[in-house]
Amino acid sequence: MALKSFVLIIAILAVVTSISHASDPSPLQDFCVAVNDSMTTVFVNGKVCKDPKVVTADDFFKSGLNVARNTSNNVGSAVTMVNVNNLPGLNTLGISLVRIDYAPYGLNPPHTHPRGTEVLTVLEGTLYVGFVLSKPGPNMKNKLFTKILHPGDVFVFPIGLIHFQFNVGKTKAVAFAGLSSQNPGVITIANAVFGSDPPINGDILAKAFQVDKKVVDYLQSQFWWDNN
Ligand SMILES: *[C@@H]1O[C@H](CO)[C@@H](O)[C@H](O)[C@H]1NC(C)=O
Ligand SMILES: *[C@@H]1O[C@H](CO)[C@@H](O)[C@H](O)[C@H]1NC(C)=O
Repeated sequence: MALKSFVLIIAILAVVTSISHASDPSPLQDFCVAVNDSMTTVFVNGKVCKDPKVVTADDFFKSGLNVARNTSNNVGSAVTMVNVNNLPGLNTLGISLVRIDYAPYGLNPPHTHPRGTEVLTVLEGTLYVGFVLSKPGPNMKNKLFTKILHPGDVFVFPIGLIHFQFNVGKTKAVAFAGLSSQNPGVITIANAVFGSDPPINGDILAKAFQVDKKVVDYLQSQFWWDNN
């Protein structure tokens, strides 16, 4: 009887702890350099590993993050991502990096990373940053946390929450950020809602945003610049 309850508790704990793992799975070896293998039909949660015998230092290397990107676009920002898709050595390691360039008054528009927390530091310029909490309790609104960041300041955007950075200075700004996923993903709110392919039914958006359908038609007809 006691043994049965013990086994049951262990089984429940196993299920609960497996659910609570919100980040990338831990590596089971030193590394697993990603390789594209179109011949494989095996499903892998991530990428298949390159044969360790032919792995070289270059599999863990990428250059060019010193180069500022062109920010002459609708939002005035450009995000350069270094993740498992262009640095295969990141596979299974649960981490990635971005460089973000901002034009004067440029914006990295409200977006979320479904698979990663972000820790950002400013190298140059002044950013107004913020994130919004998820579904609040009864009689509460979605709370907004904001901060003005100067060079050397660090700010955290928790996993999944909607966040933004706006360059409030007259000069360009540069930030770097680490993300707790090899492939954090990005959902830019305006682009995903009003620029989806195919478009979301306009009546649905008119009801959801509580505006006239004409407003939705206008928003859906916009070109939604992707700064990633
Ligand atoms: C995998 O394929 C993508 C798309 O074809 C390509 O951009 C990328 O460089 C490839 N990665 C590797 C590690 O071969
Ligand atoms: C930046 O992009 C804009 C728009 O595409 C282009 O007109 C401009 O020449 C580019 N600037 C540089 C320095 O490449």
